This record gives sequence, structure tokens and C-alpha cells, in this order.
Amino acid sequence: MFTKSAEFYDLIYASKDYAGESAYIHELIQRYKRTVGSRLLDAACGTGQHLRYLRRYYNAQGFDLDEEMLAIAHDRLPDLLLYHADLASFSLGKQFDVITCLFSAIGYVETEARLQQATEAFRRHLVKGGILIFEAWFSPEEYVPDTVHARFVDEPDLKIARMNVSRIEGTVSVLDFRYMVAVADGIFTFDETHRLGLFTDEQYRRAVERSGFKVVLRDPEGISGRSLYICEVVD
Ligand SMILES: C[S@@+](CC[C@H](N)C(=O)[O-])C[C@H]1O[C@@H](n2cnc3c(N)ncnc32)[C@H](O)[C@@H]1O
Repeated sequence: MFTKSAEFYDLIYASKDYAGESAYIHELIQRYKRTVGSRLLDAACGTGQHLRYLRRYYNAQGFDLDEEMLAIAHDRLPDLLLYHADLASFSLGKQFDVITCLFSAIGYVETEARLQQATEAFRRHLVKGGILIFEAWFSPEEYVPDTVHARFVDEPDLKIARMNVSRIEGTVSVLDFRYMVAVADGIFTFDETHRLGLFTDEQYRRAVERSGFKVVLRDPEGISGRSLYICEVVD
């Protein structure tokens, strides 16, 4: 997944407002959480950019499946507990007051069956009164296949062009990325394919409701233009 590109992830998303997003997530948590505790788990935490800010308010931990992403998060946040785990099967043996899963990481579960497993794992790791906040990937209606996308990094000693054409395979969006990276040693290229399930609002709701949550808010714009769901544990 991100194994080859992890070292470039933070540069590629340098303009993403993690501080502002985290401040808004904090506001939502304060509005909806019904526990007194402050244990927060960031699921699929990537390089730890949200944790970097959320840790100011919460006793924060995280996990990710990609070892390279996790290594960057470890370097950034050496004193936080960070686990190597899969969204669909994580079992940390502890519970939290809040679970976040941001920047559409949930889409990587690919199938509805694994989406269900993930929401069940979220529920098992939350106490009563706790909340789950996740940012959805595109729905089948929103996703436009056969379109071209690019991001660029233009630093004095490093240039990156990341391009992809969006494809669709059944109910899965397939992003075939090609990276071209220029450093003093020369220019190299590599490819990476990402597969994310295209779930409808109904599918997200069904998965969380079957797992013991109630959706208390769905903000279609969310923190980065993608739907943000806030789900509370049903007592
Ligand atoms: C778009 S990145 C988002 C990372 C981070 N949440 C952020 O906002 O920058 C998606 C993340 O999901 C992770 N991921 C993908 N599939 C996963 C899985 N099955 N279990 C855990 N993490 C996964 C990737 O390694 C990557 O770090």
C-alpha cells in the first residue's frame, strides 16, 4: 500500500490542515462524548499527523497496518503507544472513550464484510458512552472513474510528481499511482496501487448500526470535504 511512498506522504499532504482538522474533531468529541475519560485511539493513524495534535487533549494511542507509515509515526511521537494492526481484526485488549478513523482510511477495508468486521472491532474497543468518528471514502455515486489526478512537491532538493488515473472494479475504486521523484542522485519512479471500497451511506449506517452504534451526525463536508460520521455507542 503505502510502503514505497510512506517517506513522501507528509510532503505530498503538506498543505493538509491537520491542526485545524484536529481542533474540529476535538470540538465534536466534546459535544458528543458522554464519558469522563479521555482515552483516544486513532485507527489507521498513518504518520501520526492527527495524533500529534489530538494528544494535547487526549490520552492518545494509534495503530496502522503499514509498517513504514507506523515507523514515521513512531519517530514523530516516540512516547505514544502505536500498534501494528488491521482495521478489520485489531484486538488491543483495552477500551477507549473515542476512536477516530480519518482521511478515508476506512475505505481500505474494501469489502462490506470487512467493513462490518471493522465496525465490530471499533465497538469492542469503546466503553459505553464512547464515540466513533470516521471519515468515509467516496460513495459509488460520488466517485468518478477514468479521471486523472496529480499532486506535486517542489522543494529545493526534492521534486515529486504523483499521478494517477482512477479506475473502478465492481464496487472497488482502484488508484494506480505512478511516482516520479527527483533528488541530487537522479530521478526514480515507482508504482503503487491502492484499493478502496465504494460504500453507500446506507452501507456505512448498516455496518455501524449492526455493531451497536447509532449515527448521531453525518456531516457531508466533514473536515476535508468527505462525509464525516459521528456514532455513539448504544447502551
Ligand atoms: C489515506 S491514509 C490516512 C492516514 C491518516 N489517518 C491521515 O489522516 O493522514 C490511509 C491509512 O490507512 C492505513 N491502512 C490501510 N489499510 C489498513 C488496514 N486494513 N488496517 C489499518 N490501517 C490501514 C494506511 O497504511 C494509511 O496509513
